[in-house]
Amino acid sequence: MSEARKLFIKTYGCQMNVYDSERMAEALGAKGYVLTEVAEEADMVLLNTCHIREKAAEKVYSDLGRLRPLKTAKPDLKIGVAGCVAQAEGEEILKRMPLVDLVVGPQSYHRLPDMLERTEGGARVVDTDFPEEDKFDHLPERKATRGPAAFLTVQEGCDKFCAFCVVPYTRGAEVSRPFARLMAEARGLVEKGVREITLLGQNVNAWSNDGRGLGGLIRELARIDGLERLRYTTSHPNDMADDLIEAHGAEPKLMPYLHLPVQSGSDRILKAMNRKHTAEHYLRLVERIRAARPDILLTSDFIVGFPGETEADFEATLDLIRAVGFGSAFSFKYSARPGTPAAEKPELPAEVCDARLQRLQALVTEQQRAAQVAMVGREVGVLYEKAGRLPGQMVGKSDHLHAVHVEDPAGRVGDLVRVRITASAPNSLAGERLGA
Ligand code: 5AD
Ligand code: SF4
Repeated sequence: MSEARKLFIKTYGCQMNVYDSERMAEALGAKGYVLTEVAEEADMVLLNTCHIREKAAEKVYSDLGRLRPLKTAKPDLKIGVAGCVAQAEGEEILKRMPLVDLVVGPQSYHRLPDMLERTEGGARVVDTDFPEEDKFDHLPERKATRGPAAFLTVQEGCDKFCAFCVVPYTRGAEVSRPFARLMAEARGLVEKGVREITLLGQNVNAWSNDGRGLGGLIRELARIDGLERLRYTTSHPNDMADDLIEAHGAEPKLMPYLHLPVQSGSDRILKAMNRKHTAEHYLRLVERIRAARPDILLTSDFIVGFPGETEADFEATLDLIRAVGFGSAFSFKYSARPGTPAAEKPELPAEVCDARLQRLQALVTEQQRAAQVAMVGREVGVLYEKAGRLPGQMVGKSDHLHAVHVEDPAGRVGDLVRVRITASAPNSLAGERLGA
């Protein structure tokens, strides 16, 4: 028998891609491929790509260019492009990059093993269908994951059509996976040692099936013995249903953390973005969530320099940030994406966008520090995910998703321990284990 063939996957972009990369590795695993961390050793290189901003998409082409010497040295090497750039650009990728053997979209990657077989004879193949069949029914069972915290995709796609966003085009319409399948997948993960599950979806809180919403799904998942923590991401403000907000108060396994993108604090810009909510609506929603779970940590996404954004609009965004107080936030300069309505509009000068991004990030950093410092002295749960750099040290995530370093020579990956936070560093916390 020849040695197992090796697969190298590079994942760009969001957590949905991280989940998809794992599932693609499992699909190819069934065909004898094992993962390698070293591209030079690989028999197949798969780039699982992101199309959300121009920079992310262009990075894929420069990375492909960098694979050229490898392909020359190893002509049998297969190179595949998966994910949202694959979906958006399809055939174009083959034209622009002769070294690419296959292009597979996010809804058709269960066909990857067959596609790969077709490339054996030298064919170059593209599959960017939104097939009738559900890819999840055609993928092998989940393997043991890398740690005690796992992702579980419950929903895909987006029907919201924010004016700047490619997701409704690359990921298609909102589809919820069936309740029973999700329960089975979650139980399977827990049997393999998983203690924390993050439910994923482009609009995760739009999930619904069998008369249940996401709040109902969370309640049922929480009944699984051995599953200790639940999270979900990414949510849209307009889909925060009452039962989901209630779950934050009623369900102790649902962690006190919520990523709730708002994008802007200006009603004029929110309207131009087609967000279908106002700043006031968002602030009221935050009040209701905090009433249910007072210690919840909120994070968000912001876009600066959306076409037409004035200084007053931008100030309104800073006001909203001050009013809410976020634990952290992702902020981006607006990037015009082909095929989206906003791409038709004139762009703001780059210097204006740069300056606004810096001001916004300075404010968010201040809030992040304050939120971390406020944790000092408090007792939190920490799930150890790996050993720290220093001997005897463990690193894990707190209930509020802060990275926490703990001196704990007896600690093991997968332990869920009580910790008192003792110090705050720029991007993490330190703590001491209680009751050990
Ligand atoms: N330009 C800049 N940022 C964008 N995002 C989505 N599309 C764009 C774009 N065209 C940001 C939004 C979203 C996050 C995932 O990426 O803030 O919430
Ligand atoms: Fe994109 Fe808006 Fe859908 Fe989020 S809600 S994926 S930003 S279109």
